[in-house]
Amino acid sequence: MRLWGRATSARRRMLCLWLLLLGFALVTLALSDLFNRDKGHSHQNPGPPRRPLQRFSSPQDLEVIVDSRDPALELGVDLAPLKSLQEDQLLFVPSTQGTKSPPQKKGSYKVLLPGANKETAAPAPPTHGEMGKAVQLHLEGSERDTELAAVQKYGFNEVVSEKISLHRRLPEARHSECLGEQYSESLPKASVVICFHDEAWSTLLRTVHSVLDTAPKQYLQEVLLVDDLSQHGHLKSVLSEYVSHLNGVRLIRSTKRLGVGGCRALGAGRAAGEILVFMDSHCECQKGWLEPLLERVAQDRTRVVSPVMDVIDWQTFQYNATQWPVRGVFDWRLDFYWESNFPLQDKGPDSAVQPLRTPALGGGVVAIDRHFFQSVGAYDPGMLLWGAEQIELSIRVWSCGGSMEVLPCSRVAHLHHHHLPYRFPDQDLLQRNKIRIADTWMDAYRKIFYRRDTLAHFIRQSESPNITERLRLKRSLGCRNFHWYLTTVYPQLYIPQDRPALSGELYNVGTGSCADYPRLQGPQGGPMNIAPCSGTGSQHCDLNSDGEVRWGPMGALCLDAKGERAVLSPCLTQIPTTSRTQWKFVKLSGQLVHQQSQLCLEAVKDGNLSQSSPREVSTHSSTGGLFLRPCIRHPRQQWHFEQLVAPKGT
Ligand SMILES: *[C@@H]1O[C@H](CO)[C@@H](O)[C@H](O)[C@H]1NC(C)=O
Ligand SMILES: *[C@@H]1O[C@H](CO)[C@@H](O)[C@H](O)[C@H]1NC(C)=O
Ligand SMILES: *[C@@H]1O[C@H](CO)[C@@H](O)[C@H](O)[C@H]1NC(C)=O
Repeated sequence: MRLWGRATSARRRMLCLWLLLLGFALVTLALSDLFNRDKGHSHQNPGPPRRPLQRFSSPQDLEVIVDSRDPALELGVDLAPLKSLQEDQLLFVPSTQGTKSPPQKKGSYKVLLPGANKETAAPAPPTHGEMGKAVQLHLEGSERDTELAAVQKYGFNEVVSEKISLHRRLPEARHSECLGEQYSESLPKASVVICFHDEAWSTLLRTVHSVLDTAPKQYLQEVLLVDDLSQHGHLKSVLSEYVSHLNGVRLIRSTKRLGVGGCRALGAGRAAGEILVFMDSHCECQKGWLEPLLERVAQDRTRVVSPVMDVIDWQTFQYNATQWPVRGVFDWRLDFYWESNFPLQDKGPDSAVQPLRTPALGGGVVAIDRHFFQSVGAYDPGMLLWGAEQIELSIRVWSCGGSMEVLPCSRVAHLHHHHLPYRFPDQDLLQRNKIRIADTWMDAYRKIFYRRDTLAHFIRQSESPNITERLRLKRSLGCRNFHWYLTTVYPQLYIPQDRPALSGELYNVGTGSCADYPRLQGPQGGPMNIAPCSGTGSQHCDLNSDGEVRWGPMGALCLDAKGERAVLSPCLTQIPTTSRTQWKFVKLSGQLVHQQSQLCLEAVKDGNLSQSSPREVSTHSSTGGLFLRPCIRHPRQQWHFEQLVAPKGT
């Protein structure tokens, strides 16, 4: 009895122990699950990687924290000598460049880097607030609200992006002739440098997987992720962990905010591949995108090339192929555009696969020889955060011995943001970057820029950029001047004459307003209007010696007549003797006379009727605009060209 009793109690004790152990195991499991889910930021996509777990030998290889305050690193000058360039292409060796400290100064610098040191690498309050909002909306249970919150946070519908595979394949969009193209067997290897700052998890990882899934192994040296001081939690240890399971991906973290140029230069300094491919952190590559880029650069190391940039819709994440031909251009406000729908000059039989020389390239994806990148001056370290750095690179590459091309057989899709999620810490940052371009590269032509961006002019008046180093670079590289660039590389850009009293805002005495063209109507033109004078340079126009009134920062639209309405239409390349787009300004009366009809330009305000021609009542009673009317002495037919600023020439 006692024996049995002892045996039972022993068994009971064992049972208890087992139960305890089981319970403990369950709790551990649940906890780790919870922890993981928490770490994973409740994303569906970052499941266990499909590849076998294969860690790099040393963790330093995988994730490097770079104290980027070391200026040598920022400029990426820890370089091998320039072996791959031919001697006659060897223009400049960056030897002393790295010893100079970055030239930032004063207010903007402070605002830019509120937490440049390591302690403050914790999540910042503003993003927390936004995240809180997102979570709250989610709890309210409405999918629509969650989507809205995601759009607010990222500038695109991240909820939709989450549902799309990280390995999705883009539909074929290349011209059929591209599919038969043969590329050299021995192409140089590429380092794909992807800089990111608070990128969404799904878009960042889809970019990485897209490169890994499409780039042939033998041509991919590495994918170099460079974290430009992100604050979002999912980009911290979770990302490190995730990346540790990917073969050939390295992660570098900067300890201060570098901006696009600085971040890319940092990656370039750490890259091992012969060719650098800079890629935005929200891209998807089309099959076969890499080989054409590598081949073109391998054939001429001073070539800088880009794929055709297709578009991913910010709302639906649908892929939309871009029409060929397409080229990169910029206007006199130094804003960049991809331009399509232009006639190819020599449209040969294989123009669908021929590389196209382009005045500029966008920043989305750029492939460049690593040594050429360094020798031509990397990115301007004086440029802050982002904006216009691709225009600076473009002018510099062309002027200093290189060239640029878009390759139709290479396609990469770029997520088109609805808006940019980050506010500029400094409103004038973009202007400051543009001022550096204007003063470094544009010679006397910079006046044309300052007239069309008066904010930049006023900033420039109160402070000078320190471009000493860049001018030294320009000299030592023996770069050509901007006149050469305009006439040889970018002859399509209209060069305004900006004559005094014949250019500026077109001010109407009768209405006290200025001639205006609503930007939303697009580059194809449309009806002119009147609006309050902006004073920013956005309403600048130029009556040139051909009698054209050239409008806008591109100067590609001309004042034209359509019936009785004054409209803008694309300017003619050759002007016949009497054209619809020819005008004469009578200084004495202030009348602007349409040469073909001999009618005068008259301003009509919204909701008002025209005195001089009452028959317009029925058709135009509710809209203002610019009309052609018989010439009379009336303030509404009286105009002034008002130049807003007088920038210095040299
Ligand atoms: C694709 O682009 C074309 C022209 O750029 C546009 O008209 C069309 O609406 C776009 N389609 C989608 C689905 O966004
Ligand atoms: C401009 O920068 C150079 C080097 O980058 C420096 O030597 C010089 O002192 C700076 N000039 C001013 C006015 O800050
Ligand atoms: C409309 O035009 C008439 C005559 O031209 C003028 O007296 C009146 O002030 C205008 N009204 C507005 C709102 O501009």
